Amino acid sequence: MNYKEITEKRRAINLFDPDRNVTNELLSEMIDLAARAPSSFNLQPWNLMVLRDTAAKEKLKALAWDQPKVVEAPVTFIVLADMAGGPPHGGKKLAGNVEQRSHGTGSA
Ligand SMILES: Cc1cc2nc3c(=O)[nH]c(=O)nc-3n(C[C@H](O)[C@H](O)[C@H](O)COP(=O)(O)O)c2cc1C
Repeated sequence: MNYKEITEKRRAINLFDPDRNVTNELLSEMIDLAARAPSSFNLQPWNLMVLRDTAAKEKLKALAWDQPKVVEAPVTFIVLADMAGGPPHGGKKLAGNVEQRSHGTGSA
């Protein structure tokens, strides 16, 4: 399937099989792929919580408009933005390195 087909055929999923076995290997693969998403300065300023425990998912459901799928999904992710995940030194040093590299003069 090419990118155009993936984009056209992708859908949000609302119904989940709670008994579906999602192995840790499959989870790792999904997370590895998701972590390829681009981010500013490639800082990847996010943290991930992986919920399998029903009680934990129930707590999240209460905070998510009581949507049943939060608990029905065998695995639920919470993606947390890292608010302290901005560029170091206010971005100046890092931005300088990127600038130098783009001109082929930097060693960073
Ligand atoms: C940031 C974000 C949050 C969303 N939150 C919910 C949600 O809480 N409940 C829900 O049923 N769908 C949620 N959706 C899915 C959207 O409703 C869905 O993407 C939209 O209706 C378009 O449908 P499609 O993704 O199948 O094209 C969310 C989508 C995004 C991007």
